[in-house]
Amino acid sequence: MALRSLLVALAAAAAVADAAAKVVVPRADDGCPNTLKVSYEPPVAAKGWQYRLAAHGFKKPRSIAFDKGGALLLVDSGVGVFRLTIDQDQGETCVVTSQPKKIISSAELNHGLALSDDGKTLYASSSSKVYAWAYDAKAGTVGDSNRTIIANMSSTDKTTRTLLMSQKKPGMLVVSRGTVDDEDSLARDKSSGHAQLRAFDVSRLGDKDAPYAFMDGVLLGWGLRNSVGVAEDPSKGGIWSVENSIDEVTRNGEDIHQDNPGEELNYHGRLNDSSTAKDQGGNYGFPRCYAIWNTTNFPNLGSLKTADQFPGPDDAKTLSDDQCKKDYVAPRLAFQAHTAPLDVKFNQDGSKAFISFHGSWNRKNPTGYRIASVAFNKDTGEPTAAHDSMTAAVDVLTTPDLANCPDGCFRPVGLAWDSKGRLWVSSDSTGEIFILNQNGTTDDGGNSVGSRSLVADKAATWAVILAAVVAGLFLA
Ligand SMILES: *[C@@H]1O[C@H](CO)[C@@H](O)[C@H](O)[C@H]1NC(C)=O
Ligand SMILES: *[C@@H]1O[C@H](CO)[C@@H](O)[C@H](O)[C@H]1NC(C)=O
Ligand SMILES: *[C@@H]1O[C@H](CO)[C@@H](O)[C@H](O)[C@H]1NC(C)=O
Ligand SMILES: *[C@@H]1O[C@H](CO)[C@@H](O)[C@H](O)[C@H]1NC(C)=O
Ligand SMILES: *[C@@H]1O[C@H](CO)[C@@H](O)[C@H](O)[C@H]1NC(C)=O
Repeated sequence: MALRSLLVALAAAAAVADAAAKVVVPRADDGCPNTLKVSYEPPVAAKGWQYRLAAHGFKKPRSIAFDKGGALLLVDSGVGVFRLTIDQDQGETCVVTSQPKKIISSAELNHGLALSDDGKTLYASSSSKVYAWAYDAKAGTVGDSNRTIIANMSSTDKTTRTLLMSQKKPGMLVVSRGTVDDEDSLARDKSSGHAQLRAFDVSRLGDKDAPYAFMDGVLLGWGLRNSVGVAEDPSKGGIWSVENSIDEVTRNGEDIHQDNPGEELNYHGRLNDSSTAKDQGGNYGFPRCYAIWNTTNFPNLGSLKTADQFPGPDDAKTLSDDQCKKDYVAPRLAFQAHTAPLDVKFNQDGSKAFISFHGSWNRKNPTGYRIASVAFNKDTGEPTAAHDSMTAAVDVLTTPDLANCPDGCFRPVGLAWDSKGRLWVSSDSTGEIFILNQNGTTDDGGNSVGSRSLVADKAATWAVILAAVVAGLFLA
């Protein structure tokens, strides 16, 4: 066949394919068939990052996790557990998700979600219990009945029970339980179980065994007001949590709550390494000692630096700054007061921890409503920033005008990585799921690690179409 007629045929085939694509699905500006848009001033991705709305219409999506088949599971608080698949994936953030399927219907489930190492058991939490279901990733279904594996955690105010399944010590499930309220006198007593982080070997529970009580768990820390985010560093295996600190704090009778106390990043040793047992089970301060964030105009500052602890209003008469330092575990880092960190997830090589800052209510000018990353040293398993750093959290996705918050802003909660190195995030107040991809060098020097480009994937698609057309012509 003459080259000219082959080219004419190819051009015609391409035009038909293009027209068909245009007729069948509307596309975003960049050609992606996903045209979902937020209904408020959109968040802004930092340099080197891009993002897209991937799903919406949930009531209050909290924890999210990918199953072994690449489907996204999420707890919609007060509704149940949903599963959605990625129906089209053109690389970068260009994904089209399926209609969410409710796999567990329960008004009780409100936050925690985890999968066993083999992916065959799904765990989800209510304020008082951790439940387990048999899970089939291929069929996308759970078994007919649930089993309670941890019981008796109820308390009224802080009701989330975050779940983390260890990758380093198989079978260990970490559960975070917050305080009842800021005047929770029981949290002063270790035996109350309030404001604590504990780990449970769920692989040792036999079929007929009674559930664990919360107090049966290995104590990883107490005096943790509300450590909603918990993660395990894949490089060194350290357990890290992010703590939401108190509201309305005073010092020497002065109101210092706008900029204090700091939210906290705390370290809890390694589950697979008994030599780090000294880093476990300590008292992290609540409700006696709190971390400083802003030292400017801090009454009686003395030698205190950011992330050092000072006595709270109820203990100022009986505790000194020195005692807070000596007898309580200080955070590794502090974050801006009231930013409300709700999840933390390390990237694959452990060089960065990503944190969702849900955003403030107890502050004149709103703060938070963003995702940020904290750099870690892979050799030491510690953050690279100094203990008293105020710049450790580097923006990834931010809210352009905080004056619109909380109503007209996304409020990030759960984080999860997909198998292509893209970060997914839930926003509870807006009922949305976003996908973030690192497509370039970031301001803190991070190299591109995300999904390959949309353009490359498109080129690959065209190569397949052209090859098919050419083959068709030769067969004809
Ligand atoms: C677990 O099963 C019990 C018994 O069938 C049921 O009453 C309860 O609602 C279930 N819990 C959840 C969270 O589905
Ligand atoms: C939970 O508390 C109830 C009432 O105090 C008790 O009967 C039950 O044994 C407890 N369950 C566990 C697992 O400790
Ligand atoms: C614990 O896990 C870390 C990270 O994988 C590994 O380097 C270390 O050797 C493990 N420790 C033990 C005692 O197995
Ligand atoms: C600390 O407080 C001072 C005085 O209120 C303020 O000017 C400054 O911006 C604050 N710094 C941070 C990092 O919040
Ligand atoms: C990354 O994506 C953003 C948003 O889509 C885009 O503006 C930017 O040019 C991309 N960067 C690179 C290096 O391709």
